[in-house]
Amino acid sequence: MVPPFSADQKNLIREVRRWVDERPPGRLLVKDTYYMTIAELQQEFLTSNEKHIAPEDFFILLSHATQKEKIFLLAHSEYSLDAKDETLVRDFFRRRLKHESVASIVGHKEFYGYTFRVTRDTLIPRPETELLVELALDRILNFESGISAQEKNTVTLVDVGTGSGNIVISLVKSLLPKIKNLKSKINFFATDISAAALSVAKQNAKQYCVDNLIKFHKGNLLGQLEKKIFSADEIIITANLPYLSEEIYRTSDDGVKKFEPRSALVSDQEGLGHYYRLLKSVKSLHEKKQSISLFLEISPEQGFLLQNFATSLFPKEEMRIHKDLAGKNRAVGIHIR
Ligand SMILES: C[S@@+](CC[C@H](N)C(=O)[O-])C[C@H]1O[C@@H](n2cnc3c(N)ncnc32)[C@H](O)[C@@H]1O
Repeated sequence: MVPPFSADQKNLIREVRRWVDERPPGRLLVKDTYYMTIAELQQEFLTSNEKHIAPEDFFILLSHATQKEKIFLLAHSEYSLDAKDETLVRDFFRRRLKHESVASIVGHKEFYGYTFRVTRDTLIPRPETELLVELALDRILNFESGISAQEKNTVTLVDVGTGSGNIVISLVKSLLPKIKNLKSKINFFATDISAAALSVAKQNAKQYCVDNLIKFHKGNLLGQLEKKIFSADEIIITANLPYLSEEIYRTSDDGVKKFEPRSALVSDQEGLGHYYRLLKSVKSLHEKKQSISLFLEISPEQGFLLQNFATSLFPKEEMRIHKDLAGKNRAVGIHIR
């Protein structure tokens, strides 16, 4: 039950408590101080205009600070936080109010039903990127892809610019229950130019016990992998490479610019430089006997530009622009035979 203190009294008690918490240990003992309840925190951060936190963010941050389930916190607005948890959650709210994303504060993000560790060195996985997982899964499970005849074919999947490893790990996790002896049937590779991002991807793979199924390589685009990859009969490439033009990046949210690596977001040539270079290297390495499918995430306005470029390199091949759940052009699929 909330004790019958006035607002001024509560503030005073909180001040004293903070002062007590920050004192050098062992010098002073104050008992029975006033502890703030969830209802009061809600009052302060959900109803205020200047210090407003979205309810969903409020409970994720509160749950992270108190290490209590969201469902418990939602059901117990009378629950009092101890001094340590209140200081922690206030710090999280302060960071959120300065536009840091919830994922960056708590250090993880949900993607395709899995939880991925993220740091300042990785892009925070976006829901729209789940489309690349769906497209690659479809391709792999499709009878036409040749994977159904894996005894004869060798299949390789490469995730270029893997970041936290969200795409390739979601693929492996989704395929494990569907394809027997997955390890002997598909070779999975993941590359990134950032050693720090790769280290996070490896930790994520380990956490999901799939680190023995994915080979991680540091390098520029396909890097040193070219020989290994291009000896396969069927190659699938997923890539969510940097694709923002300088101009679009300049107008992006402060939270993105301040807390996510620029090198994960911006590319030259109106944002398509990385994809142009990737397609050129695929063109130079492609041998006639191979089938290659590429799934590339784009910004909605880039669909036709990228498709035109790909058509100039592979005039006879099948191309398709795929839409995300919001109905926006989000990926280009290119199938080379
Ligand atoms: C947009 S982030 C995508 C991360 C992750 N795949 C995802 O979907 O959230 C792009 C990633 O590409 C990496 N990258 C940038 N330039 C690269 C290059 N030339 N070769 C390989 N990776 C690169 C960045 O370090 C970053 O991790």
